[in-house]
Amino acid sequence: MKLSRTITRTILTTLILTACTPPSPGTPAASPTITASPTPPTPSATPTLTPSPVPSPTPNPLFAEMASLRGVNFGNALDAPAPGAWGVTLTRELVLAVRDAGFNAIRLPVRFSAHTGPAPEYTLDPDFLATVDEVIGWVLDAGLTVLLDLHHFEALNQNPAAERDHFLSIWDQLARHYQSQPEQLYFELLNEPSGELDADTWNVLLRDALAVVRQSNPDRVVLVSTAAFAAVDALDQLSLPRDTRLAATFHYYEPFEFTHQGANWVSGSSAWLGTTWDGTAEEEDAISSAFDQARAWSTAQNVPLVLGEFGAIEQADHDSRVRWTAAVARAAKRTGMAWFHWDLCTDFGIYDCDAGVWDPDLLSALLD
Ligand code: GLC
Repeated sequence: MKLSRTITRTILTTLILTACTPPSPGTPAASPTITASPTPPTPSATPTLTPSPVPSPTPNPLFAEMASLRGVNFGNALDAPAPGAWGVTLTRELVLAVRDAGFNAIRLPVRFSAHTGPAPEYTLDPDFLATVDEVIGWVLDAGLTVLLDLHHFEALNQNPAAERDHFLSIWDQLARHYQSQPEQLYFELLNEPSGELDADTWNVLLRDALAVVRQSNPDRVVLVSTAAFAAVDALDQLSLPRDTRLAATFHYYEPFEFTHQGANWVSGSSAWLGTTWDGTAEEEDAISSAFDQARAWSTAQNVPLVLGEFGAIEQADHDSRVRWTAAVARAAKRTGMAWFHWDLCTDFGIYDCDAGVWDPDLLSALLD
């Protein structure tokens, strides 16, 4: 069993969202950069009665950069308890296969919290860091963007106060270690905040982590996930500091009973086996409206969005997987988001890492 997740993400998300209070109107949400009013000084003799034009947000250039990214997650590799423990060993050849298929970005989930020494330094294991460096080097050499993601920090979700220093120390070390890397390396502060790390707690912690990163990486693109397992519905509760190199990220696995049928880390999911996704108008609308809602948030906040994970498990009927994958990818492209399929070659895979063969239907569902 990969994870002992005993409560489904959907149920937990609902509980968390119900329990959280939305930010007060005074909360400084990610404010667009405001340009000074272009109104020239009025000649003193002629008092004007015309109000100054309402300042409009400066377009954030990060939107165009995000809209061009189409990626895949290197899931269940360096996010396993030890590299290779879940059957995926990353190689330069895999990176080249991903690039040659037509992707231009890779999200690299890494379980850094399992590779640190004791408090108070929490020193990252240099051998493990060298393994991560090597993979990042392969991706950058291949001309792809790499999104480095702090994955499976379960202790932080369970006890944010006790693990705060551990979390900030990891980011301090990573940020300094990678500060000279090209701008095609992005950071994602934390995968799927959940449990005790609710929206309000996360809104405070993410500011602290971003401040640590910004000390050594003033311009690097940083992604911040919504709370409640990266739920799209939690966007409204995300409060970001003003920072023009920041993007927000969420995951999309709805309907969960379809995408996670038979997942051995989701209790009760064997009862969902056989669930299909037929692409009815109602099913399509559910996806479209979720993405429209996300885009409305993004426009209002002037913060670009990244769909960091989406995918349907291999136990699902293949035609349904292809239809659902195409529909979600279409919605992400239509709404101008970067997107990353979960995953490459394990239980949500689109590629056979041993045989070196793509699933042609899923590949074209994503890239056509
Ligand atoms: C999350 C988990 C990952 C899981 C995926 C699909 O990213 O961290 O382990 O495979 O969601 O459930």
